[in-house]
Amino acid sequence: MVLNGDMTNPSQLVSFNDGNTIPQLGFGTWKLSGDECYNAVRTAISVGYRHIDTAKIYGNEEPVGRAVADAIAAGEVDREDLFITTKLWNDGHDHAPEEFEASLDRLGLDYVDAYLIHWPFPAAGKYVKAWEDLIRIQGVGRVRSIGVANFYEETLDDLENATGVIPVMNQVELHPGFSQASLRAYHDEKDIVTEAWSPLGRGDSLTEQTIVQIAEEAGATPAQVVIAWHVALGNVVIPKSGNAKRIEENFVALDVALTDAQIDAITALDADGGRSYNDPRQWPELES
Ligand code: A2P
Repeated sequence: MVLNGDMTNPSQLVSFNDGNTIPQLGFGTWKLSGDECYNAVRTAISVGYRHIDTAKIYGNEEPVGRAVADAIAAGEVDREDLFITTKLWNDGHDHAPEEFEASLDRLGLDYVDAYLIHWPFPAAGKYVKAWEDLIRIQGVGRVRSIGVANFYEETLDDLENATGVIPVMNQVELHPGFSQASLRAYHDEKDIVTEAWSPLGRGDSLTEQTIVQIAEEAGATPAQVVIAWHVALGNVVIPKSGNAKRIEENFVALDVALTDAQIDAITALDADGGRSYNDPRQWPELES
């Protein structure tokens, strides 16, 4: 649910089932590392992003944390105004508390706003144990909200049935060509926020003919059109860019208003495309 309903405000908030909120437009950092990551996060904060997404496996918690610390020290932002997410990797399902502390150390933060189980990894069968640990970690007060990524209906049900605690959000692959209609409907039923990773289809969506044409009609760039489509669907969206101009271009995407027909035309691209990364029902396999 969009709280303030102001579609032109890039920091507009979406509410969680635990009472907390998240800025709908965030900055994705997958594939960014070292100084490039540091500079990108500094740029993102300076143009107005207030939501940064990282993960242990991205190997960039340290530069993300340094960029956040330096932006705060420079007086650009207060910690309370930032929403920072990190994630538990697949090899940590049976020792989440230690993994969580190590992430906080790398980030140099006292708390994160969201901690997510990165993949359900059903072959290992330990995601319920990890979820029980995340619930305990939340109780200690160093993470405000807990959620998951790449979960699907059955694994979400397992968490709820075992603990009664429903994740605040599920971050999943979602882009034009793979709009995840049935999973989004399930999230709505359970009051789980849908967060889109690879929201631009890793850039592939931007040359798609329908999107290029809508961009011309809307007087916007293809990336802005795709971000506006995510927002129209109610997704939290975390485009990644290492380029300052594109970081800013993506941030002002919420000024783009699409018609219902344009939104439907983008959603209809599902017929031509699909998942471009691993299927969480099958991946990862157990190492023999
Ligand atoms: P770059 O980092 O050089 O800007 P996704 O978020 O779906 O994973 O997509 C990320 C990819 O899309 C990256 O290759 C990124 O390249 C590219 N990208 C991000 N924003 C834009 C934009 N506004 N215009 C063109 N390409 C973009």
